[in-house]
Amino acid sequence: MVDTRLEPTTTAPVGAAPASSPEPWPDRSVIPAVWSRITNLEIERGEGSWLITRSGERYLDYSSGIGVTNTGHAHPRVAAAIAAQAAKLIHGQQNIVYHEPGLRLHERLRHVLPGDGWGAFLSNSGAEAIEAAVKLARIATGRPVVIGFRGGYHGRTAQTMALTTAKDVYRGHFEPLPGSIYHTAYPYCYRAAGGSHDPAACTCDWEAQLDLTFHQLIYPEHVAAILIEPVLGEGGYIVPPPGFLPRLREITRQHGIMLIADEVQTGYGRTGRFFAVEHWAVEPDILVMAKGIASGLPLSGLLAKRDLIEAWPPGTHGGTYGGNVVSCAAANATLDVIEDEHLVENAAARGAQFLAGLRGLARTHPAIGDVRGLGLMLALEFIEPGSGDGRTPNPNLAKRVLAEALDRRLIILSAGTYANVVRIIPPLVTTAAEVDLAISILDESLTAAGA
Ligand SMILES: Cc1ncc(COP(=O)(O)O)c(C=O)c1O
Repeated sequence: MVDTRLEPTTTAPVGAAPASSPEPWPDRSVIPAVWSRITNLEIERGEGSWLITRSGERYLDYSSGIGVTNTGHAHPRVAAAIAAQAAKLIHGQQNIVYHEPGLRLHERLRHVLPGDGWGAFLSNSGAEAIEAAVKLARIATGRPVVIGFRGGYHGRTAQTMALTTAKDVYRGHFEPLPGSIYHTAYPYCYRAAGGSHDPAACTCDWEAQLDLTFHQLIYPEHVAAILIEPVLGEGGYIVPPPGFLPRLREITRQHGIMLIADEVQTGYGRTGRFFAVEHWAVEPDILVMAKGIASGLPLSGLLAKRDLIEAWPPGTHGGTYGGNVVSCAAANATLDVIEDEHLVENAAARGAQFLAGLRGLARTHPAIGDVRGLGLMLALEFIEPGSGDGRTPNPNLAKRVLAEALDRRLIILSAGTYANVVRIIPPLVTTAAEVDLAISILDESLTAAGA
């Protein structure tokens, strides 16, 4: 079995974190079952790419808490910023006072996207920031409709459930959902109707489908926004063909429709650029961010041109905790770490290393139907070789691979409408040695799972 003993990712000591209480922990049944769960690990602490259990076992966390711990677990600089801020002020409500971490963060966020004139609005979760983006687009355009993509995931509040179609479980029990929402086809080259093809030579008919949407369902001049994940996340880590986003930008401009980029999962360096839209030099009207922005403290937000944000009438949106001062301190430290440790560059380099390793695994494991990824957002799609048209989804195999990897102390996740995709989301601080280790663990796990 692969040896998982590697040095922690971060060089600085994590500090004298107090050991957990010697008292037995309360029974797990206190946590409601609605939190579906992929491990039963009891975690004491985290360091860099690693989670450490109460009994001291180290797990390589390539879930990053669903794409959140980009700077690694408990990065010493982020932890210190949180501790220092919490000792001074924990809540400085945005409608009532100004605080320095918030002002600094808003100021810095003006410059994280190329081009001038950006402004930020802060909230707490990804779903909440999507809600804000939809409200902003509606109020700015005076139009009611929002179009999303089939396979997209945007959250679990009522509005974001209505926009989400990654899987039935996210919305199926909750009709009626908010209206004036339509969905159109995302280019999924591996599962294209005419057969799989290379995204570079895409023949998916997404543009014809969008045109049909405009002719069958809704006038384009009634559409406030089109909401897009630049790389589909929960829907299966699907990297779109190169011409897709630039062409979508052209079409939205032609019709005066705002383009909202949901970069909740793809943002903050994850794909090897600070934001994924930069891979295609596409400028959205609104960009939504969350997850990695405060290294695990609840914080989300949107970026939009300042004239758009300034035209948002006071009181039409807000929330008690938006732009929380401790979260803003964590977010400022997160930006410092991303810059000083060159994490975007590391994501690109480690991503290329990982993708090459996964392609190597696909040569010896025939149940891997597709390997894809951008930066450190990587996936294997599992099929039943020889069945149907050769692309029959194999969710049971994906499940077995996750279990075998967990037995070998590697935490990875599933994704995709049929749950037959294994997604790998390492922290951006991960090292070349850790990536090599993960590839060997995956190789063993695939063999053990019968892939
Ligand atoms: C692309 C995308 N948008 C929105 C969300 C919702 O974010 P949150 O869970 O913070 O509400 C997620 C969460 O996974 C996501 O991946």
